[in-house]
This record gives sequence, C-alpha cells and structure tokens, in this order.
Amino acid sequence: MKFLSLALTLAAATLGLADNTITFVSQDSVDRTVHFTPNPGMPDIKAVEVAGKKNATVDIPHGWIGNFFSISKGKDVVPGMLGEVAFNSWGGITFFDVSAIVDPNDHVGVKQMWPSSDRKPTSGCDLFPCAFAYYLPDDIQTQATKETDLICTLGGDSATIGVDQRDIQDDGAAVFSRDFVVGRGLPVRL
Ligand SMILES: *[C@@H]1O[C@H](CO)[C@@H](O)[C@H](O)[C@H]1NC(C)=O
Repeated sequence: MKFLSLALTLAAATLGLADNTITFVSQDSVDRTVHFTPNPGMPDIKAVEVAGKKNATVDIPHGWIGNFFSISKGKDVVPGMLGEVAFNSWGGITFFDVSAIVDPNDHVGVKQMWPSSDRKPTSGCDLFPCAFAYYLPDDIQTQATKETDLICTLGGDSATIGVDQRDIQDDGAAVFSRDFVVGRGLPVRL
C-alpha cells in the first residue's frame, strides 16, 4: 500500500513536470505562428506566436511526442517543414529532427534544431535542400541528446545565428532512424 501511494505520488510529480522547452528563434522580420501536432494520446500544446526577429520559448510536457510547423502571418495553416520531437524517451534521451517529408518546398518556416547548450548535433538546413533533413521516411536523420531544452530557428534566407552546415555536424555522433522520433524506437544507450 505504502509502495503504491509512493508510486502514485511519483507519477503525479512526473506528469506535472514541465521540464522541457523549445525556444523558437526568428531569423527575419516575418511574424509567424508555430502549430503543434501531438502524437495520439499526447496533450495538446497551444499554438505560439513568434514575432519577427524575436524568440519565443514554449514549455513542453514530460515525454511529449509530436511535431510542429510554422505558418507565416496571413498564410493558410497547412503543415510544411516539420520539427519532430520525442522528449524524455528511452533512457532519458530526447530525439529530434527536421523533416521535409510533408512539404520539401516549405523553406520559410522551420530551419534547424539543436540542443540549447551545444550546436552539435544539429538537424535541418540553413538553406534547403541539404543532407541533414528527412526527405524519405527511411532516411537516417534523427538526432539524440540528453538535453531537454532545444532551439529551433525559423525563416531567414541565411541564418543570422547560423554557421556553416559542415562545421556543426558531428561526424562521431550517433544518428537514429525516424522510428525513434515518432515513438516506435527500441531502447538505446548513448
Ligand atoms: C534568441 O535565442 C538565440 C539562441 O539562444 C540567441 O542567440 C539570441 O540572442 C536570442 N535573441 C533574442 C532576441 O532574445
């Protein structure tokens, strides 16, 4: 009984924990809204406005799996370039990637993602197309981090805080299949 109530207390504490964030970094003067699409069974996340040249940080629930896309002001809400995330997954690892699978021609929204304290590993492109985003479902492009705060750049013809793509790719870093970012992956150890 004691064990059960302890387990319930721990579960409640875990569910209430907003220990993850994504900071959206606008790289141009366009105002945008970022829309979130949760995986089935995951909580909704309210769409967030990211004003041109500004940042907006969004709290992400513990263990959240889903994706997001950016819509420039005045445009129809149609999913384009996706940021895909699986927070606090196997072994506490957070998986993330940028996916061009839905609309490879959306070059004005989601650009790149990386863990906030380190540019390595980075997913996505400063200038699309590049070799670091998903184009086919069986590409191997999902990145992994033990960090729970991610950066996602939006827009800009050439990134204002971006650096040469080749300098930010870590040749030694493990990359994963898309299964991991959509919640289908097997346990891994980094
Ligand atoms: C937005 O966040 C990025 C990345 O952390 C940082 O380099 C930049 O200074 C921030 N810009 C603003 C306007 O806060």
